[in-house]
Amino acid sequence: MPDSTSHLAPRVWFITGCSSGFGKSFVSSILARGDRVIATARKIDGLSEFADRDNVKLLELDITHSQNCLNECILKAINFFGQIDVLINNAGYVLTGPMEEISRISQSQLLDQFNANVFGPLNLTRAVLPHMRERRSGTIIFMSSIAAWRGVSVGGPYSASKFALEGSVESLQKEIASFGINVHLAVLGQFRTDILAAHRRQSGRGTNSIRDYDDAVEIFQNRLEETNKKQPGDPLQAVERILDVVHRRGYFADHMDIPLRIVLGSDAVDIVRDECQKMLDDLERQEQLARSTDYPGPAELQKYQ
Ligand SMILES: NC(=O)c1ccc[n+]([C@@H]2O[C@H](COP(=O)([O-])OP(=O)(O)OC[C@H]3O[C@@H](n4cnc5c(N)ncnc54)[C@H](OP(=O)(O)O)[C@@H]3O)[C@@H](O)[C@H]2O)c1
Repeated sequence: MPDSTSHLAPRVWFITGCSSGFGKSFVSSILARGDRVIATARKIDGLSEFADRDNVKLLELDITHSQNCLNECILKAINFFGQIDVLINNAGYVLTGPMEEISRISQSQLLDQFNANVFGPLNLTRAVLPHMRERRSGTIIFMSSIAAWRGVSVGGPYSASKFALEGSVESLQKEIASFGINVHLAVLGQFRTDILAAHRRQSGRGTNSIRDYDDAVEIFQNRLEETNKKQPGDPLQAVERILDVVHRRGYFADHMDIPLRIVLGSDAVDIVRDECQKMLDDLERQEQLARSTDYPGPAELQKYQ
């Protein structure tokens, strides 16, 4: 009988935001590979297609709830199958609006965005880490975006949340690698889910709107409308690649060190490459200026890492 840490043993996955899009695709693909899933959503009635199956458990979960609620949810989940091998922090949504407007009257919309896209995933991770540390095993996936690589005009709230997520996860990975826990950020291009549908995305515009931004907002909204349902990325393919990463199969089968960032989508490749190149070019132009601020003499401190 294979032990639970072997790459051949069936795994137990815990996934957030399974009511649609990537979340739903994860559940189907994981079951097709013979693993077990704890599928969570704010409302589980939308998951009835997965009910009554031995290898699936459904749980209601809003990731913005308190740390105590998240801890209880994880304890309940561990009791279902005795373990959680993989946490997929998938739930999230898009809030748009110019940065000057978005917090003009209250910070609440921006805080809600960060609660769902940053603090929720980090709190849930905090709830599952004692279990994974104890077992010296586990994988945690965070759904990031090209929005974390390029701040888009009028897309600032979502971009800010994904930038913050990437920074937090980069530190987290270094802190928990020695406990045998793998962490990855899926840096996704534009994928054909409902994320851009008008009923899903939220706009920060309301009584706080500033006329100077009207044109930029209109251009951005039109672009979202045009992109919705025509995104180049196939979510099922992305899910399969992520499953391969966790199972150490497919492209990364022979790699000991899988990168923190798994870039998915041709548009993501282009944007990440462009942004890296732009940063290198900018650095080149200002290197002398940057180095001119040191005290004289060689640096004595350990390298910043
Ligand atoms: N599709 C893309 O192009 C793309 C690109 C980059 C990154 N991503 C990321 O991929 C993840 C999944 O997005 P998707 O494309 O599958 O979009 P989606 O179809 O809109 O699904 C988002 C899911 O998140 C859930 N959710 C939102 N807030 C929640 C909360 N507070 N608690 C629990 N669940 C919550 C939604 O549940 P409800 O049904 O209850 O609202 C829904 O199930 C997100 O993190 C997104 O940022 C997507």
